[in-house]
Amino acid sequence: MNNTKYSKIVFFTGAGMSAESGVPTYRGSGGIWHKYNWEEFACQKAFDRNPTNVLEFHEVRRKSVLDCQPHNGHKFISELQKSHDDVTIVTQNIDGMHQRAGTDNVVELHGSLWHLRCDKCSIIIEDIGESFSKMKCDCGKYLRPDIVWFGDMLNSQIIQQASEIIQECDLFISIGTSGVVWPAAGFPQEAKSNGAYCIEINTEQTELSYLFDEVIIGKASEIKKHLSFRT
Ligand code: OAD
Repeated sequence: MNNTKYSKIVFFTGAGMSAESGVPTYRGSGGIWHKYNWEEFACQKAFDRNPTNVLEFHEVRRKSVLDCQPHNGHKFISELQKSHDDVTIVTQNIDGMHQRAGTDNVVELHGSLWHLRCDKCSIIIEDIGESFSKMKCDCGKYLRPDIVWFGDMLNSQIIQQASEIIQECDLFISIGTSGVVWPAAGFPQEAKSNGAYCIEINTEQTELSYLFDEVIIGKASEIKKHLSFRT
C-alpha cells in the first residue's frame, strides 16, 4: 500500500549514511583513506602481492562494522519500505547496515564486506563474521573480498540495474555521499533528467548540491524529521 504521493522512491546512500553508526567515512576528517594507504590494502595489485595482508585489513573493517549498529535513519528507511510498494536503496556502502536494519531491495554498487569471490571459479560466497571462515577457495586460489577496489571495474549489470531503477523513480533522496566517485556520482543527474523530485541530505554542501530541488543540511539519523511530511 502506498501512503505517499510518490510511487517509486530511491534512497541513494554513501558513507555519511553510516557515519553516525560509527563506521568511518572515506574522505573528510576521520576518513579511512587518511589513515590507510589504499595502495597497500585496497587494490588488486596489493592483493596479488600480499593476499593475507589485504584480507587481514578487511577483517579489521568487518570487526569495526560489526561493532556498529544501524541508527534511526536506517530504521526509518526500513519502516517506510514496509508501508510503501516501491522503495529501493542504491548504496555505495559495503557495510550491509541497511540490511541489518531490516531493509531489503538494496543495490550494492561497490560490493559487500560480507561477500568473498573466486575469480578463477567465478563464484561469490556469503561470509558474515569478524574473521573470514576461509581465505582460500576449494581450487586453492585466495578468495578476495567482493568489493570494488581502486582500479577495479564496477559490475556493469549492477550499474545498469541501478540506472534503470533511478530513471523510473519519482522521488530521489541522496544521503551522505560526497558525490565524487563515478559512475555513482552521475545518478543524481540521471534522476533529475528523468523528472524525479530530488532531495539531498548531507551535513554539508557537496559538489552536486546544485542539482537538487532541495538541499537539507542535516544528519542521516534525522531523516524522519527531514522527510516525514514529504514522503
Ligand atoms: P565520502 O567519505 O566521500 O563522503 C561522505 C559524505 O557524507 C560527505 O559528503 C559528508 O559531508 C557526509 N556526511 C558525513 N556524516 C554525515 C551524517 N551524519 N549525515 C549525513 N551526511 C554525512 O563517502 P562516499 O560519497 O560514500 O568507494 O564515497 C564514495 C566512494 O568513495 C565509496 O563508496 C568508496 C570510496 O572510495 C569504494 O570503495 C569503491
